[in-house]
Amino acid sequence: MSILVRAPSNIALVKYMGKDSDASSGSAGPNVPTNGSLSMTLDSLCTLMEFRRVSGSSRFVAELPKLSGYTARVGSSAQAPSVPKLSQSGTERLLAHVERVRGALPVLLADLGGVSAGRDGWEIRSANTFPAASGIASSASSFAAVTLATALAGAADPARVKRALGDGFELRRRLARLSRQGSGSSCRSFEGSFVEWQGEDARAVKSAMPKLLDLVLVIGAEEKEVSSSQAHLRVKSSPLWEGRVSRVQSRLARLGPAISKGDFSDVAAIAWEELWEMHSLFHTASEPFTYWLPGSVKALRWAQAFRREAIVTMDAGPNVHFLVPESTRDLWLSRLREQFPHEEVLVDAQGSGAEVLSIEGGPS
Ligand code: PMV
Repeated sequence: MSILVRAPSNIALVKYMGKDSDASSGSAGPNVPTNGSLSMTLDSLCTLMEFRRVSGSSRFVAELPKLSGYTARVGSSAQAPSVPKLSQSGTERLLAHVERVRGALPVLLADLGGVSAGRDGWEIRSANTFPAASGIASSASSFAAVTLATALAGAADPARVKRALGDGFELRRRLARLSRQGSGSSCRSFEGSFVEWQGEDARAVKSAMPKLLDLVLVIGAEEKEVSSSQAHLRVKSSPLWEGRVSRVQSRLARLGPAISKGDFSDVAAIAWEELWEMHSLFHTASEPFTYWLPGSVKALRWAQAFRREAIVTMDAGPNVHFLVPESTRDLWLSRLREQFPHEEVLVDAQGSGAEVLSIEGGPS
C-alpha cells in the first residue's frame, strides 16, 4: 500500500515566537505558544510525502523515484521537487513524530473506521518544491505532511479518512493539534487561506481579502546560525519581551476583523509592525542575533514606501515576503526585478491546506 500527500508552507503575519514552557510540558504536549499567531497558507511551496508499507520499522529513504514525476509552478518555471537533506537528528525527529501520531490514532480515527490491524513499518520518501537553496523553512510543510500521511497509513479505511478531510474541518483541526506537537507552525498548514492559532487550536479566519500572491524575495539561503527552536527561547531574554504577549493579542484582535472586512491596508500595517517587533526581539536578546543580511536591510528600506500597498513580512530568515493582490502581479514582479535584478523571486499564491494526492492498494 502506498499513500501520497502534499502539505503547503505558510507565512505568518502575526508570529509564533516563544513557547509557554509550563503548558508545553503538560498534557497538551510540546509547542504550546505564548501567544496567538495568524498566517496565510501557501499553495505550491509545499512538501510531498510518500509512505510505502514495508515489514520492520519505519525508515526515511532519501531517493525519490516516483515523486520526481510531480512538478509545481514556483516562480516562472516548473519546479521539480528536490529531496530534503535531512540530518540524523532531523530524521529522528520526523520518525519520532510518526510514532507520536501512530499512538494517537485509536482516538483520532475512532469514528472514522479505526486503525489498521498491522504494525508494519513505512518507507518514507519526501521532497520539497522549494528550490534547494531558497531559505524557505520546511518544518511547517514537512510536519503537516508527515502527520497527514501517518494518519492515512495507519487507518483501517484510508479512503474514508480522505473523504472526512474534504467533508468539514473537524478532522483537519484534530490533525493540526497533533502536528503542532512535531513542529508548532505546521498546525497552520491544514486549512486556508488565513489561519489563526491560539493555544492548542488552529482554525480558519473568515476572509474578504482579494486573492493574494506571496512574492518571496530570496536574499540568502545559508543554513541558519540560530534555529527557530533557539530563537523561541532567546527572545524571552529581551527587555522587549515584557508586554509582547498583550501587544500581540491586541494586534490579533485587529487583524482578524481586518481580514474579515478585506481591509488590505490595515492588514499590511499590522504585518509591518509585527515584522519589526519580532526582529527587534532577536536584536535585543541578551545575546543579540540577527537573520538579516545586507540585502534584507536594503529590501526593507525600499519596502517602507510600499508598506500599505503590499503586506510585507519576514520569518526567522533573511528573505522578504511581499503579499500582494493577484491583480497586481505584473506590476510587482517588474518592480522587484528592476530593484533587485540579482535576487530570485518565488511566486506562490494563497492555498487551502494539506491534501491527499493518492492512495494505492489497501490496508492489511
Ligand atoms: O514552527 P517553528 O518552531 O519553526 O517556528 C516558526 C516561527 C516563525 O516562522 C518565525 C514564525 C511563525 O509564526 O511562523
